[in-house]
Amino acid sequence: MLEKIRQEFEKRFGSHGDIRAYFAPGRVNLIGEHTDYNGGHVFPCALTLGTYAVARKREDNKLNFYSMNFESRGIVESDLNDLVPTKEAGWTNYPKGVIWAFEKRGMKLPVGLDVVIYGNIPNGSGLSSSASLEVVTGLALKDLYGFDVSMIDIALIGQYSENNYNGCNCGIMDQFASAMGKKDNAIFLDANTLEYEYAPVVLEDAKIVIINSKVKHSLVDSAYNDRRNECETALKELQAVVDIQTLGDLTEEEFEAHKDAIKCEIRKKRAGHAVYENQRTIKAVAALKENDVETFGKLMNASHVSLRDDYEVSCEEIDILVDLAWATEGVIGSRITGGGFGGCTVSIVKNEAVDNFVSTIGKAYAEKVGHEAEFYVVDIGDGAHIL
Ligand code: GLA
Repeated sequence: MLEKIRQEFEKRFGSHGDIRAYFAPGRVNLIGEHTDYNGGHVFPCALTLGTYAVARKREDNKLNFYSMNFESRGIVESDLNDLVPTKEAGWTNYPKGVIWAFEKRGMKLPVGLDVVIYGNIPNGSGLSSSASLEVVTGLALKDLYGFDVSMIDIALIGQYSENNYNGCNCGIMDQFASAMGKKDNAIFLDANTLEYEYAPVVLEDAKIVIINSKVKHSLVDSAYNDRRNECETALKELQAVVDIQTLGDLTEEEFEAHKDAIKCEIRKKRAGHAVYENQRTIKAVAALKENDVETFGKLMNASHVSLRDDYEVSCEEIDILVDLAWATEGVIGSRITGGGFGGCTVSIVKNEAVDNFVSTIGKAYAEKVGHEAEFYVVDIGDGAHIL
């Protein structure tokens, strides 16, 4: 693949000079959903799918972007004096946002760049194609211009640009997983302190399978921001009666004891999800360390129920996939993954049951929904790196 992207680069921008290549992965979250911006824990892993960038510094101020995923757009031209989000800039708002955020941190690019991007994460699947684009841009800037910035900072800069340049108030999970992933490991991250630990995912007799529902409902970003606001209000209400910084500070018992301080049933459900999901994530990682995959699976199932009923970020198509998975032989656990309102499910499936899982659910989903789902057996890959 890399060879093809390099050739495309040379075709568009010429073969002279110091051309370099980078990769940043997408992610799948195993458990800990909508907890990151609530001061809780997440447990994602990096995929081997992701975004490639082939780039070279220029001698002037121009920024030239070309994506092999949006060929019809051709080269999108801009320059370093034009770091303002616009509709016309389309997908280039992501790399431009990262350049803008680097500048905000005092890392101003002395000259522009030419870059060709190619991503193999299915569009709109909720597997973090935008975070991987932000992180691959950050890594390219670090390497091309020699900026002294850590991979964790690249993740934070990516999140900052998404929040402040691209208008989605996302948490840190996706960029962190893309920047810091490790082959065959998931990352147990405390999103409040950014303390993290790698946990080997050795499922001897099972596989992680992602199903892409191939639906993406509109209003994803606005509904996401709504959930955040509801949780922030609930936190303020709780802070009137208990000394906490985030919802992640509460155990289930503490939440039950104080939840009546939240003056609205919907906000109570939202905050309850954040508290219980955080505790489920801590328990799930402990179970995995004990090799207790059954318990891990049960916690995944409970996570789905809570995201469906209390956090209300699932949708009909995703619930169909999860219900089908729960009814299929050899499934240890299954849930929605990512921001929600479409996208993907993640399941743990016994090795010998995978073929049947794919064919049975594939057929039933197509019959019920009217289009096919896509299945990927997950390989956990490394975080962003220079190629
Ligand atoms: C999106 C956001 C993440 C996280 C998840 C939900 O992927 O980018 O920060 O909040 O949704 O867990």
